[in-house]
Amino acid sequence: MIKHADAAPCRVVVLLSGEGSNLQAILDAVETGQLPIQVNAVISNRPESKGLERARRAGLRDIALDHQDFERREDFDSQLKAIVEAESPQLVVLAGFLRILTPVFVDHFAGRLINLHPSLLPKYPGLHPHQQALDAGDSNHGCTVHFVDEVLDGGPRIIQASVPILPADNADTLATRVRNQEHLILPLAIRWYAEGRLKMARQQHRVLLDGEMLPSTGFCYKEGGTSPP
Ligand code: GAR
Repeated sequence: MIKHADAAPCRVVVLLSGEGSNLQAILDAVETGQLPIQVNAVISNRPESKGLERARRAGLRDIALDHQDFERREDFDSQLKAIVEAESPQLVVLAGFLRILTPVFVDHFAGRLINLHPSLLPKYPGLHPHQQALDAGDSNHGCTVHFVDEVLDGGPRIIQASVPILPADNADTLATRVRNQEHLILPLAIRWYAEGRLKMARQQHRVLLDGEMLPSTGFCYKEGGTSPP
């Protein structure tokens, strides 16, 4: 296993917009010693985010940067870039950050920027993925963690988890079951990165885990299946 040379915990900045249940899953994994990282700051584009409260409660630096204070998307991204960069992060995690980022931000953090999206990408990028999966009559739905590039929800995929769609499901019940999987795969992807095992092979639009190229879906996580590496 390749470790980061200084063996200090990996410096991580988390960006979010709302509830922050995925931030909580990350913090719980750190607390129980499963995640060798240090969350340096939690930043939200919505000052009232519950996720910022969670950060405060955990004694972390919480920063609100309201996108409504900026006229141009690029100006917000440029300010956000400066705030994040000031933390010298090794990894930036979009954990429910509900805002499209421009190349001003994305290009700067390429290869150390990951996003969580609630669908089995490339299906249903963008908004309302749960309803879209129901409307399409899919038998499965799920979530994906991927490196971020300039294409919306389009970067190389690291890991996916799927859940069956049940006859009685609506968008809320489905979202709840998918979210339980998000709480497993996001900390796992972060752990791989922090352990120096994950790399973005940009040319091939794929991801390397322990030097091996993952399939285009990323690693397929199955609850109760073989333990992930
Ligand atoms: C999660 O379901 C995440 O997949 C989704 O926002 C939710 C945040 O939940 N992200 C996106 O839709 C990004 N396109 P949380 O605030 O409880 O972690």
